[in-house]
Amino acid sequence: MSTPHNNANKGDIARTVLMPGDPLRARFIAENYLDSPVCYNEVRGMLGYTGTYKGVRVSVQGSGMGIPSIGIYSWELFNEYGVENIIRVGTAGAVADDVQLRDVVIGMSASTNSAYASQYRLPGTYAPTASWKLLRAAAEAAERSGKSYRVGNILSSDTFYDDADSLAQWQKMGVLAIEMEAAALYMNAARAGKNALCILTVSDCPLRGLSTSAEERQTTFRDMMEIALDTAAGV
Ligand code: HPA
Repeated sequence: MSTPHNNANKGDIARTVLMPGDPLRARFIAENYLDSPVCYNEVRGMLGYTGTYKGVRVSVQGSGMGIPSIGIYSWELFNEYGVENIIRVGTAGAVADDVQLRDVVIGMSASTNSAYASQYRLPGTYAPTASWKLLRAAAEAAERSGKSYRVGNILSSDTFYDDADSLAQWQKMGVLAIEMEAAALYMNAARAGKNALCILTVSDCPLRGLSTSAEERQTTFRDMMEIALDTAAGV
């Protein structure tokens, strides 16, 4: 069995999948954190691997950038491959004043400027929300290992280069950080009756014109990854 975007067979993919945006980061995670990783997908270069972490079977697969891309890959994982838990691991821009470069931010909810929810024909505004089970497990994993983290509302934007320059308005509403995928992931999980969480490392501050170096990103990336992997090993 395969899908138009994934040539894995049923059973090749673990019940919990970590999803970075960049497929090369998926390969990095597989090679550096998983025992005995096996590559299950190369279609469109969207690499996916399954291995074990602390004895638990875990997969890691790229999502691509943006809501349409993670919308496709996570839909197939939940609905075609029987995946139960997806944990996005990615980078974000700081929005709230007190969120700093290198902070780890966990998305309890994901506001969005995307029309992704319109497919559900709801008579109101849907609030894309993380799975409490995964959120609690991630917070506990971070606390056990003494890593600091923030939890709150994030913004999943359809635009990276935004002509409307609207970040200040989202900031007024208490949004912590901006990225481009979580809202679709949370909606796909809700619709499929599955679980999703988004854990982010702040790589830039668009409102303050700051960004981290590639080297710094690598270090803080480790904190986020260890929180995500320990979460995956416990659910
Ligand atoms: N905007 C959107 N997505 C992002 C950003 C940003 O500033 N930084 C990292 N991902």
